Amino acid sequence: MKSRERFLAAVEGSEVDRPPIWLMRQAGRYLPDYQAVRKAHSFWELCESPALTTRVALEPLQLFALDAAIVFSDILVVPRALGLGVTFEAAGPSVKHLLRTEADLSAWDFSKVEQRLLYVSEAAADLRNTLQGSHGLLGFAGAPFTLFCYAVEGSSEAEFEVARTMLLTQPDLARRAMEKMSDVVLNLCRAQVKAGVDVIQLFDTWAGLLSETTYRHMALPALSYIVKQLQSDGTPVMLYARGGLHLLSALKDTGARGISLDWRTPWREARAQLPSQLLQGQLDPLTLLANEASVQRETKALLDDMRATSDYRHCIVNLGHGILPSTPISSVQAMVKTVVESGRGAYAKR
Ligand code: CP3
Repeated sequence: MKSRERFLAAVEGSEVDRPPIWLMRQAGRYLPDYQAVRKAHSFWELCESPALTTRVALEPLQLFALDAAIVFSDILVVPRALGLGVTFEAAGPSVKHLLRTEADLSAWDFSKVEQRLLYVSEAAADLRNTLQGSHGLLGFAGAPFTLFCYAVEGSSEAEFEVARTMLLTQPDLARRAMEKMSDVVLNLCRAQVKAGVDVIQLFDTWAGLLSETTYRHMALPALSYIVKQLQSDGTPVMLYARGGLHLLSALKDTGARGISLDWRTPWREARAQLPSQLLQGQLDPLTLLANEASVQRETKALLDDMRATSDYRHCIVNLGHGILPSTPISSVQAMVKTVVESGRGAYAKR
């Protein structure tokens, strides 16, 4: 099977010769050419140039036998387009106009927001045209709750205390903020689909901080709305929720075709709960910092789980979170090689 065919077969749930593989954050700081591009251009300059986004999105495909590409962009394009003022410092993202009051929400600028996000679908179209159908292609966006977390706190926090407190003290404001964001996210995803992506992945990176009850009550309505609209258009959606083992049933209830598991979620437990859902994951990104023997052993163990529980159907090999900047190229090569050599049943425990 060719890469895109294999990727689409997994997404559709049909038979595959082996599970397809791609890696979250596969284009990024662990790669030499990415670093060279970033020396010459700011992060937003990179995101706004289709020539550069295609160049960095292709680099991992040239180095590794991956089956899918992901549009080069960021989840924070949405708060940026709403006028919140998003910059990237050495420590990570920083948001200038934080969401704390009704007045802050009223200041969000929805006029011509689609136009301000055009660069994302231009990046998707350019990559699509360059790939010519050789690889699967994912578009993506942030889930409303995770975008809310950044809008309220402005940077990555361990607990997102202020944002989560607002769910209790100003639930109506929080809900409306997520609702407003969901329309922008939906249109951004539809624009990427129009530009030719095969699948949309929604990143709810901070979902795992919430209890199931709070998640269902506060975060799920806006997320489910996006999933339902996209899937009724015929676009398969995958959801990533970091630390989301306790949220599997809530995520399932969105009706999303796929769930991208984090590294702490036991594969067999997730598969038992979700027998015919597309499951993606979930090697610990830390594994790639260890030696090649460990990478090979852990990858084979994941393949064993996939083979034993669903004969590789409805499976995509990935990491349980984004690849770390200190990852050696040789580890990624070892992981991909192990998957490529697996073949149907090669590592099955009999
Ligand atoms: O290959 C790819 O997947 C690249 C596309 C991509 C980026 N960000 C590029 C990026 C994707 C899918 C994302 C998603 C993203 N962005 C998430 C969800 C996934 C996750 O990791 O949980 C989140 C939470 C963000 C927000 C964000 N963007 C943070 C917290 C940071 C800084 C810290 C970090 O991980 O680098 C970014 C910056 C960013 N986005 C970089 C890249 C390659 C690094 C920027 C640089 O060059 O300095």
